[in-house]
Amino acid sequence: MNDDIISYSSEKKGIVTSKNTSDDLFSEIVSLRPTSFKEYIGQNDTVETLKIAIQAAKMRNESLEHILLHGPPGLGKTTISHIIADEMEKNLIVTSGPALEKGGDLIGILTNLGDGDIFFIDEIHRIPKIVEEFLYPAMEDFVIDFIFDKGIHARSHRYRLKQFVLVGATTRVGLLSSPLRDRFGIFRTLDFYSIEQLVIIIKRSADILNTIISENGASELAKRSRGTPRIANRLLKRVRDYSQVKSHGNVTRQSVQASLELEGIDSLGLTSLDRHYLKTIIDFYMGGPVGIEAIAATLQEETDTLVDVVEPFLLKMGMVLRTSSGRKASQKAYQHLKLKT
Ligand code: ADE
Repeated sequence: MNDDIISYSSEKKGIVTSKNTSDDLFSEIVSLRPTSFKEYIGQNDTVETLKIAIQAAKMRNESLEHILLHGPPGLGKTTISHIIADEMEKNLIVTSGPALEKGGDLIGILTNLGDGDIFFIDEIHRIPKIVEEFLYPAMEDFVIDFIFDKGIHARSHRYRLKQFVLVGATTRVGLLSSPLRDRFGIFRTLDFYSIEQLVIIIKRSADILNTIISENGASELAKRSRGTPRIANRLLKRVRDYSQVKSHGNVTRQSVQASLELEGIDSLGLTSLDRHYLKTIIDFYMGGPVGIEAIAATLQEETDTLVDVVEPFLLKMGMVLRTSSGRKASQKAYQHLKLKT
């Protein structure tokens, strides 16, 4: 089995096979993750769509349609796939696009899937093209065609697969080929969370971590979490450490402000990379418009990191504008950074 595949059994609610771990699959992140839609906060329309699809599939005793989840990192795509597997009482098999280097990697997994199993591919837009082509017949007709030998001796053998459910997650739906995109029956984009939703998530996580957090502390932390539960939970742990060491242990607005200042996170949740990105547009390119490649080169950052991680929240906050001729810093960015236009 490929080293990057992690398989869960929902009956045992544990890990069946694990050789390699990925950031958000282990440690406390797992314990903070909601395990049912009842516990899940936010993404109301997506959750409702999925609950209906799951209930209908169960009533008809059928598998779910393939599901594509799109949105910035940390909004719950992986969490939702775990919940789907739990609610369907099926196994969850997890891998990612870059881990599927060869056709054989994918075929190995597909041929081991059971009826109704949930096959989660994170970063599905990064599957190599030759591997992706095996997915089309697998998703549509639950078959794969093996080709043996070459030239005049070439023979094809059709292998029947079980009716699995593919859950694809992507930060860049535009990079998915249309044959792949069209084979998903359910397509949902996850949105950033509101401050109110993050407050509820933070209080729930604080409870699990046995940490006391004040109402003001929770709302200050929520404001600085970039609309993202994964960031809220990660920062909660930094703030918890700080409060334990530097004050009486309880998390308050003051301890959130002081500890996040140390982390370089400002009042709106912008990180030093966010501020560098905005200052690059403003100082080097006179506010823009400027192409993303030029910004990436100046910052010595990967373009993908800027597009996937940095820009979505800055766009949502109205700090940066995307125009046909490139990125522009908005008035709000100048004001926030206390710079003159
Ligand atoms: N922890 C992380 N994401 C969450 C969510 N959407 N609801 C509840 N707790 C969470």
